[in-house]
Amino acid sequence: MRVVEAFRDSYGTEPAGVWHAPGRVNLIGEHTDYNDGFVLPFALPWGVTAAVSPREDGVIRLRSLQAGEPVTLATLDEAEGWARYVVGVFWVFRQGGQQVGGADVVIDGDVPRGAGLSSSAALEVAVGTALNELYGLGLTKMEIALAAQKAENDFVGMPCGIMDQAASALGEEGKALFMDCRSLGTRNIPFDLASHGLQLLIINTGVHHELADGQYARRRKDCENAAKHLGVDALRDVTDLAGALAQLSGDERRRTQHVVTENHRVEAVIGMLRAGAVREIGSLLNASHLSLRDQFEVSCAELDVAVESAVRGGARGARMTGGGFGGSAIALVADDRVESVRESVTEAYAERGWAAPEIYPATPAAGARRLL
Ligand code: GLA
Repeated sequence: MRVVEAFRDSYGTEPAGVWHAPGRVNLIGEHTDYNDGFVLPFALPWGVTAAVSPREDGVIRLRSLQAGEPVTLATLDEAEGWARYVVGVFWVFRQGGQQVGGADVVIDGDVPRGAGLSSSAALEVAVGTALNELYGLGLTKMEIALAAQKAENDFVGMPCGIMDQAASALGEEGKALFMDCRSLGTRNIPFDLASHGLQLLIINTGVHHELADGQYARRRKDCENAAKHLGVDALRDVTDLAGALAQLSGDERRRTQHVVTENHRVEAVIGMLRAGAVREIGSLLNASHLSLRDQFEVSCAELDVAVESAVRGGARGARMTGGGFGGSAIALVADDRVESVRESVTEAYAERGWAAPEIYPATPAAGARRLL
């Protein structure tokens, strides 16, 4: 294994173990996690593999096969860039009173970067899973996901919800992960596209608009303000949508409309999947996209063109996935329409002079685990 060879080269010993955590794609339930709502992501066949050995002196040595120079960190504050996602996990454990020393770490990853497929959550969860075993922390998968989210919130400074880390930690092969982000209850729902003659295509726009992070925090704030106005703990609690909308205006009104209807769409998709009506979820994906575009306002031209051209090419449904402002769209496509969808999207991009997006099928893979 490449990561083991690199570990030997770097540190002159065998790693104590090798762990893997996947990236994720979200089928539906967007910008609902931090509103205590519902999500339905699944873990991808691509992720982060970490070869790790513990160190007693507290020092952390890091090398990534995808990033430049290796780093040696005597203190956690020295971490920069991608290393902050790794070090953040140490920080969360230590700050929570866990006896976590240092480590020698080599990272190898194959989640397409900037595709909005949660390479950062994969990195955090891989490291969290390794430290949990190496230092005997006895944490559940959900507790590892929560620690990874806390690392991103409080150490990296990105106020994300729990979806990405939970999908990476708890995903199962052939299944999507239904999660209630309030109770943290989860259920793995069979999601077998092949037996229905379907594929879920990821369309990576290849763009990442820089405003993404600031806008994410603003959307979160809009939702919190709307909940406050309505006198509920979170937008999850809105049951009378018309009554709620009558009390709100502007951004708060639009954000509420999205979150409440998106939660209903997740429940509807679950119902369809249970009934075996997989093809029928397409229209709910389309509705989700319109709501994210018009009410939540987190789409962008590249995502809209990907979604519209996929549907024109014969997709049963399509939508942006993840935080928005770039990254990827998904399209649910019958096997015999895959080529025409590819052509339609590629042409639409070429007409605008944009670089051709990468398009590839995704199937649900297993969550975080030890490989060696
Ligand atoms: C990002 C965040 C998630 C979630 C999505 C939007 O991926 O990390 O927590 O909020 O955006 O659904």
